[in-house]
Amino acid sequence: MKPFNVYPLFEITPIKAKGSWLWDDHGDKYLDLYGGHAVISIGHSHPHYINRLEEQLRKMGFYSNSVQNPLQEQLAEKLGNISGYPEYQLFLCNSGAEANENALKIASFITDRKKIIAFQKAFHGRTSGAVAATDNPKIMAEFNKGHEVVFVPLNDEFAFLRALDNQVAAVIIEGIQGVGGIHVPNTDFLQLISARCKANGSLLILDEIQSGYGRTGKFFAHQHAGIKPDLVTVAKGMGNGFPMGGVLIHPDIKPWSGMLGTTFGGNHLACVAGLAVLDVIENENLMANATVAGNYLIHELEALPIITEVRGMGLMIGFDLPDEHHSVRQTLLNEHKIFTGEAKPNTIRLLPSLALTKEEARIFIEALQSCLTTLEPESK
Ligand SMILES: Cc1ncc(COP(=O)(O)O)c(C=O)c1O
Repeated sequence: MKPFNVYPLFEITPIKAKGSWLWDDHGDKYLDLYGGHAVISIGHSHPHYINRLEEQLRKMGFYSNSVQNPLQEQLAEKLGNISGYPEYQLFLCNSGAEANENALKIASFITDRKKIIAFQKAFHGRTSGAVAATDNPKIMAEFNKGHEVVFVPLNDEFAFLRALDNQVAAVIIEGIQGVGGIHVPNTDFLQLISARCKANGSLLILDEIQSGYGRTGKFFAHQHAGIKPDLVTVAKGMGNGFPMGGVLIHPDIKPWSGMLGTTFGGNHLACVAGLAVLDVIENENLMANATVAGNYLIHELEALPIITEVRGMGLMIGFDLPDEHHSVRQTLLNEHKIFTGEAKPNTIRLLPSLALTKEEARIFIEALQSCLTTLEPESK
């Protein structure tokens, strides 16, 4: 049997990682500005994270959700406090898609409605409901098309108000659109949808799977707009590589026992991974670092030639290049040994660890500068 290739593969085999760096099987060292799809929040192989997981594994790795698990309580309490949502409930699951699937399901159960409003360029995952709320027909099978989802342009207040009727169970929106190319919802727009959802009896789901966990300098990106959603979904940076996800549920929502369930969600190892991540975010002031390192990167990117637009907040950054510079990402990887992400057609995405240092950011800017100046004459 051979493994199914989820994505096209780079010819690189990382075997070791530390902080913002990876090493391959030839001993080559790479700067990681992508964190394996925005997953590495506190840095690779953080000693505190390793110690907590190792210690827990020696005691007990797993038991089901049918017994007391004080680690879940500790995680919920710590996440509630650090995120500013101590009064919410936490449902734990295993991935981002699963978190969104459960949030959509809760909204439908609670409102007894089924229509969903999502946004153009949205990505919410690949399970049935999550992919139906994702604006990409290529990844949607016939089976997924039974859902009632309306896509509205991001930041278009009139289109949103036209779509919002008394059939709408939920509006689902990313704190900042990630896969779609780093598009930031306007503060006014977020405030409008939050107020109108309340008035309409629809629930607002904030997908913070990529934009949350301190990445934008606040715990959640939507907190820059001062709104409080009904449901917030998290995953990626939550476990720094340990697969886990969660739904934060507003206290006005009363999910009943049996509405949601999971075998692996909230297991002992996942909880200690989640606790270790929050310890490090707190103890090392990583949210403040995300603001400082992010502002530095954005400022330097804006000063570079050729780049047509820079978007984002904190360490969730996208910048656009003209068509003729589509090879920059590959050049960064091949010649400068720097991992970055992309969004089609011409956006480079930066989603590094929140512990990125100014020196590491500088290495990237100098490499990019060199790529752009080397490539410049070819485009003329
Ligand atoms: C905003 C957002 N939501 C949901 C998901 C799906 O997460 P997962 O791949 O863990 O299912 C992603 C993954 O890229 C994402 O960026």
